[in-house]
Amino acid sequence: MSIHPPEPFRIKMVEPIRLISAEERADALKKAGYNVFALPAEDVFIDLLTDSGTGSMSQNQWAAMMTGDESYAGARSYFRLADAMKQIFGFEYFVPTHQGRAAENILTGLLVKPGLSIPSNMHFDTTEGNIRARGGRPVNLVADIAFDPTAQHPFKGNMDINKLRKFIREVGAENIPFGSITITNNAGGGQPVSLENIRAVSAVYREHKIPFFIDACRFAENSYFIKLREPGYENKSVAEIAREIFSLADGAWMSAKKDALVNMGGFLAVRDPELYQQICNELIMREGFVTYGGLSGRDLDALAVGLWEGMDEAYLAYRLGQTAYLMEGLHAVGVPTIEPAGGHAVYVDSGRLLPHIPHGEFPGQALSAALYLEGGIRGVEIGSVMFAYPDPDSGEMIYPKLELVRLAIPRRMYTQSHMDYVIETLGSLAKKATALRGYRITYAARFMRHFTARFEPL
Ligand code: F0G
Repeated sequence: MSIHPPEPFRIKMVEPIRLISAEERADALKKAGYNVFALPAEDVFIDLLTDSGTGSMSQNQWAAMMTGDESYAGARSYFRLADAMKQIFGFEYFVPTHQGRAAENILTGLLVKPGLSIPSNMHFDTTEGNIRARGGRPVNLVADIAFDPTAQHPFKGNMDINKLRKFIREVGAENIPFGSITITNNAGGGQPVSLENIRAVSAVYREHKIPFFIDACRFAENSYFIKLREPGYENKSVAEIAREIFSLADGAWMSAKKDALVNMGGFLAVRDPELYQQICNELIMREGFVTYGGLSGRDLDALAVGLWEGMDEAYLAYRLGQTAYLMEGLHAVGVPTIEPAGGHAVYVDSGRLLPHIPHGEFPGQALSAALYLEGGIRGVEIGSVMFAYPDPDSGEMIYPKLELVRLAIPRRMYTQSHMDYVIETLGSLAKKATALRGYRITYAARFMRHFTARFEPL
């Protein structure tokens, strides 16, 4: 099989993009406080900032949108979504939310109290932010191999079961309102978690009567990795694998902007009727009535179709092939990345590419700024800007182990020649890596500072 199966679709609507001049890029970046989040998208040529809500919808999704029922309560669109939810995830209850963090807000608002801890393999930024904002402690218990960027392992997103057991013993199950796992592990390279590991995590949480929630943004990519890499699953469909994953959990939340191929949407699903009731009350206060969450009827329909399309195996083979193609191309031009390639993104190891820039001068920030200046490409720093924080006890700054720039690939959007352009651009940057300098923060918010921080070059 070819490593990069061609797109299993053809393009029938196009959106123009343009590369502005080097001087215009320098000017735009300066105006943005050197933070690529503050750039107008029009000034970006290839936008790999995120795979969230940025993909192309299919003709069937657009057609489904035309059937959207905008009734306030009990819309037909809701029941079509409920049907897909039941078949794919199998939870007794769910509510739509406008995106993933809205579900996190409701869940953490109900369950997290000051001083309580929430373990996961690794929490992503919005989950961390929501937990910390309620005085809780997000704890990452991913297996150590996740921090060895070149170690070859099929499931580098796995949780370390011994760390989990030890952690529960130390803090006490009564101080853990729920436990979690993120599939795939976005903060750690988009690496998958094996079914064996999810089963073991579930067993430990159940043993201690800790409710187990899955952060399910990229469940389809994770399920396809299981099909490709985990013995015993090669003949199972992605839908069957997904069903097995969710059967092990007490609930899940999802930013549907990822594997459900919609531009906006999410959900929170549970089995416990009492918790569901509380969720409904919160939802009504903050998001909308229980049959629409923060979404339009047409969004619910696009989601109901997108959930199935995201599990299409020809699409998933092309998708994972595309990230692998990008990673291999980058290696060929001397750009180090986390290996293997993630499902939705390639993570450039800016710590290794720019060893002369210390954590406190933000190597990932330096690389993401340089990438924009060099070729109008936008990636996102996943390193000390995003994750460094002062220890709550000692006040000492704790830096993340890896300094990364994530190149997230929007779904069904960019072609192989776009990827070739990204490879060439990073290749020329790698040649002048020693000339790149770090940055200093001039403004930072208390939580999730990477979105709005401003910088000055050193
Ligand atoms: N959990 C994970 C693992 C995520 O990757 C994200 C979003 C969320 C939760 C929150 O979902 O954006 O719909 O509110 N990740 C995006 C990204 C933003 O770029 O990786 P949301």
